[in-house]
Amino acid sequence: MAASFDLIVLGAGSGGYACALRAAQLGLTVALVEKDKVGGTCLHRGCIPTKAMLHAAEVADAVRNGSQFGIHAAIDKVDLSGVVSYADSVVGRIYRGVSGLISGRNITVIQGAGRLTQSDGRPAVTVGDQTYRATNLVLATGSYPRSLPGLEIDGLKILTSEQALRLDRLPSSAIVLGGGVIGVEFASAWRSFGVAVTIVEALPRLVSGEDSSISAALERAFRKREIKLVTGAAMSGCQTTESGVRMELADGQHLEAELMLVAVGRGPQTSDLGYPEAGVELDDGFVRVTERLETSVPRVYAVGDVVRGLQLAHRGFAHGIFVAEEIAHQAGASEQAPTPIVDAEVPRVTYCDPEIASVGLSEDEARIRFGDSETFTYDLTGNGKSQILKTRGFVKLVRQPSGPVVGVHMIGARVSELVGEAQLITNWDAFPTDVAGLIHAHPTQNEALGEAHLALAGKPLHSH
Ligand code: NAI
Repeated sequence: MAASFDLIVLGAGSGGYACALRAAQLGLTVALVEKDKVGGTCLHRGCIPTKAMLHAAEVADAVRNGSQFGIHAAIDKVDLSGVVSYADSVVGRIYRGVSGLISGRNITVIQGAGRLTQSDGRPAVTVGDQTYRATNLVLATGSYPRSLPGLEIDGLKILTSEQALRLDRLPSSAIVLGGGVIGVEFASAWRSFGVAVTIVEALPRLVSGEDSSISAALERAFRKREIKLVTGAAMSGCQTTESGVRMELADGQHLEAELMLVAVGRGPQTSDLGYPEAGVELDDGFVRVTERLETSVPRVYAVGDVVRGLQLAHRGFAHGIFVAEEIAHQAGASEQAPTPIVDAEVPRVTYCDPEIASVGLSEDEARIRFGDSETFTYDLTGNGKSQILKTRGFVKLVRQPSGPVVGVHMIGARVSELVGEAQLITNWDAFPTDVAGLIHAHPTQNEALGEAHLALAGKPLHSH
């Protein structure tokens, strides 16, 4: 029998390591079990390397389109292996930082693949031939890229996003299967690098989790960038050929490209980990939890992508911190019970060009919730900084009739940086008059948020 801890966290991704860091800060003895590297999908195969790739794509566009700003330049070459090594260097620095934080807080890192087991009738974690006991356990094993029945991902011509990030050479053409978040981010970056891209999406619109006005604006912008869109399309077959991939659609059309990215969602990583055997109930693969993230087994919690809902790193961080504080509270180490995390309050950003950022309810969701909704859309053509950047887009507000602002939806270059203010507005139930009274610095894109609220408060300045 090995050591015993106050808390063992299984999985050191965003949710798991945040939980471990906070729990250690609250005075608990913590072990963190990881089969690969601390940081998980977000740091090594997801958010950080893809956003680095998208930054390189933005640089390519800036060079290509420089003449409209009076700067004439040409792209000699897009060296994808150079892009990958730049992304790797960013990942490496963050990895060293996170590893340093973990060891600085005296967290025991157990390297290896852990499984949920039993020891003396209590859930425990077994790694290799060692079993570790703890008063509390947190399941934070994350997610994996899903595929479709009959579609074989060979890692050469048919790729997951994780494999696509490791490409060292650009294809001349690519099919992106799935027009969700991963699909539109890769399509955007590849197009900026000069690849001929076609997105095939089963639903009638791209980014279907967003307000429908955002999907329409993104589709317009992508068509302008010559990204081909095939929406409402069912794939009926797909084969690799000598030169690449051939996909058949149910309506008889076919598409060909050098490679294909499969981005049809991510599934919870919960198989073969001993969860059901230990009494942890699953629901379609996701761990069933209470509002306080406790599983069907007392003192066993789950955080991040294994919990049904938004699969976002910052939701994982928030879950992890919540559970650490909950455990400390139960143990009497902290007086205040933490407030549960609500998905509707989590900001969402998609880093394609143009960027999308949103928080709260869409117009359709608000109508369902309140029977009606009030909206105002402020066009970025009225915003000086957006004009300087030569970006198009808008800020759309959704308000409960005569009530607070319940949704903010934005599209345009750099709008990701506006989502912080947007979430304060929706999460503090601000009324349009509350925000209209705030002064926004000029010239910033933040002014677009201020102007939209001025208009919704009945005193538009630079809009009708
Ligand atoms: P997703 O759920 O966002 O999109 C998958 C898309 O594939 C959907 O639009 C779906 O209708 C479509 N699809 C499913 N089956 C299909 C078929 N047979 N043919 C054509 N289309 C089909 O999932 P995605 O993009 O794979 O991302 C996975 C998760 O990772 C998401 O939850 C996403 O939020 C998260 N993520 C977040 C990022 C961010 O916050 N910027 C970046 C990348 C991923």
